[in-house]
Amino acid sequence: MKALIDKLCETHTLTKEEWILLIKGRTPRLAEYLFSLARKERHKYYGHDIYVRGLIEFTNYCKNDCLYCGIRRSNRNVHRYRLTRDEILSCCHTGYELGFRTFVLQGGEDGYFSDERMTDIIYSIRKAYPDCAITLSIGEKSYDSYKTFFEAGADRYLLRHETYNSGHYGRLHPASLSAHDRQKCLWNLKEIGYQVGTGFMVGSPYQTAEHLAEDMLFIKELNPHMAGIGPFIPHQNTPFRNEAAGTLELTLFMLGLLRLMLPKVLLPSTTALGTIDPKGRELGILAGANVVMPNLSPDTVRKDYSLYDNKLCTGEEAAECRKSLELRMQAIGYQIITARGDSLNV
Ligand code: 5AD
Repeated sequence: MKALIDKLCETHTLTKEEWILLIKGRTPRLAEYLFSLARKERHKYYGHDIYVRGLIEFTNYCKNDCLYCGIRRSNRNVHRYRLTRDEILSCCHTGYELGFRTFVLQGGEDGYFSDERMTDIIYSIRKAYPDCAITLSIGEKSYDSYKTFFEAGADRYLLRHETYNSGHYGRLHPASLSAHDRQKCLWNLKEIGYQVGTGFMVGSPYQTAEHLAEDMLFIKELNPHMAGIGPFIPHQNTPFRNEAAGTLELTLFMLGLLRLMLPKVLLPSTTALGTIDPKGRELGILAGANVVMPNLSPDTVRKDYSLYDNKLCTGEEAAECRKSLELRMQAIGYQIITARGDSLNV
């Protein structure tokens, strides 16, 4: 197994069979070895810097009914909200003062935010914050919509592929959605010129080592600027309420593998990782991650953007959230920096 990690470190790729062997054959000792190599790679390109992105969850309305997601359409227990353009701009203002130079507009697939409304919002942020990156995370759209947003000033787009395998995808999503359409969106985004982030959930229901191997091969082929992964966490008002959560251990292992496969990729240590373990985000950084994405949404709506149970940071002000993260990162020898934090994986 150690030889496979060495091969990955040298050649940045493995065959499907090798990925499966390595994922199934992992041990705590092997993981420590992997993380030490992953940190070395990370330090080579990004040093001990940690990039931050201010996450603005601007709508929790969603037309989709993904089986794992807490804001799925058929969850009648969610208090639905939308932020206005001015509320979004005010989040950016708070964020800018706190040193954020990337704003991530994330939301459900909400028809209210037509291309026209989105363009207006993007353009307003672009005008007010010319030195900041604008990231969108609003799901599947047509090529033309993506292009319109890009031309209005959006730089980056996050769209997790969720799982590459179409059979597995079908068990996590309603019939109206397909793995193929999702992947097509990612290729379109790349073609238009966005810096693209993709990713998957670790330990989602029915996931096997073979599926994870396919996820790695897909990410290698797409060669995204960012790869976001986090454990699946059940939400009480979804059909997956009784499913087991993904583990810290497997998520960290996958983070280490991603760092060796794409040494220059941006790798967030996600909120979901911090939710399943109090030291999750620190451990993610120590496994090779180099990005954190704290919440800038107004604290009045935070609890309503509940994708999974016990999501972090729901009672904190943006500033407190930012400060506590900074201290946590310093405690393990890393520093949060004020910069756009563009990907070196181009
Ligand atoms: N557990 C973990 N991650 C989730 N997401 C959605 N629901 C859950 C859940 N129950 C992730 C998806 C989505 C991202 C915004 O949040 O991967 O792409």
